[in-house]
Amino acid sequence: MKNKPIDKQTADCIIEKYHLPDFGKATIREIVAISNQIEKETNVEFIHMEMGVPGLKAAQVGVDAEVNALNNGVASIYPNIDGIPALKSEASRFVKAFIDVDISPDGCVPVVGSMQGTFTSFLVCGQCDEKKDTILFIDPGFPVQKQQLVVLGYKYESFDVYDFRGDKLKEKLESYLAQGNISAIIYSNPNNPAWFCLTEEELKTIGTLATQYDTIIIEDLAYFAMDFRKDLGTPFQAPFQPSVAKYTDHYILHISGSKAFSYAGQRIGVAAISDKLYHRAYANLTKRYGGGTFGTIYIHRALYAISSGTSHSAQYALAAMFKAASDGEFNFIEEVKEYGKRAHKMKDIFIKHGFEIVYDKDMNEPIADGFYFTVSYPGMTGGELMKELIYYGISAISLSTTGSNQEGLRACTSFIKDYQYAILDERLSLFAQNQAK
Ligand SMILES: Cc1ncc(COP(=O)(O)O)c(C=O)c1O
Repeated sequence: MKNKPIDKQTADCIIEKYHLPDFGKATIREIVAISNQIEKETNVEFIHMEMGVPGLKAAQVGVDAEVNALNNGVASIYPNIDGIPALKSEASRFVKAFIDVDISPDGCVPVVGSMQGTFTSFLVCGQCDEKKDTILFIDPGFPVQKQQLVVLGYKYESFDVYDFRGDKLKEKLESYLAQGNISAIIYSNPNNPAWFCLTEEELKTIGTLATQYDTIIIEDLAYFAMDFRKDLGTPFQAPFQPSVAKYTDHYILHISGSKAFSYAGQRIGVAAISDKLYHRAYANLTKRYGGGTFGTIYIHRALYAISSGTSHSAQYALAAMFKAASDGEFNFIEEVKEYGKRAHKMKDIFIKHGFEIVYDKDMNEPIADGFYFTVSYPGMTGGELMKELIYYGISAISLSTTGSNQEGLRACTSFIKDYQYAILDERLSLFAQNQAK
């Protein structure tokens, strides 16, 4: 057995201090804290693959617009809760340009990141109908969204879509919807953590069933247009970002500034509520709030109560980024393609040393290279692999924290630096040699 880069005793001692009953269930923040501390005490640099933090420079067009807005004095004024007119109209135009769907500016509402957007969507969807008290996750998914439901005290159900892609999706979804208690269905597309992309056929199935069972779709487009297999970056021209919006009338699209525009620090995104849903009145909402429609309650009751709007200057930034993208002046996809290049190199290194990609296909097509990928090692659980890689100075999260039933890890490509590919190669080679003994 060759020496591992990290001293086992030091690492174990640090891990023990966290009192985790099951290391494989450690959260992203715990892994960040543990790996940072080990790094500090051992002076061995880690390859951090746990956090989904955008590793690129914020889009300049956004920064410039925000600085201008601040210089023009917006900081002292409360922003309109509905959103500034420029952002509302540019968001509506952006949705048309890159999804080819019509949503009126009224339904395009700024939120403090999609994090606040999904929280508000869960909140309001769960109040529409007394009988529908459960949110359904098409997993694997973003673990914090389940935490949001814990905060709200809402029920949820979930299933790992791994075994239910394509034709199998309909029956699986119906097994939940037929119970009559599902208020909304959520998924991310491209998917965090596995980076698969639901196909048009699958989105059609989801949309058709949503209409049939009167359920709202919360479509999380945090990685908007980042399926780099297709050129989704030309405005008003196919191919478009696939969306359930083509197949049902009751949906909320969550578009985040964080990843597509590398604008995570300013906490800005848009919730785009379909026209039909915006204008629909639900008896249960009327009973609770005394009037209003889904859209007005979402904005004037829920968002008002949660944050009283979204940072004024950040709205100007997002409006400018949307505008530049829709005008064809700013190819945001070109900028973030870097993640795909990194994934390609990292996957090659993992595969070379005996690892396998867990969620490897969209039906018959290999998944795209992007912000995340998933890996497993034969004979090891996700938790075991995650712990073992810590001794090699590599940190990632286990898929078991994401609602996946597969054994493996989620690796994020955003933090890797150019010189670290060689280190990754060296450490995984050592890992494979040690495993073979
Ligand atoms: C699937 C998914 N949804 C939402 C978010 C949060 O986005 P925001 O930064 O806009 O709150 C993330 C961020 O990692 C994500 O991966």
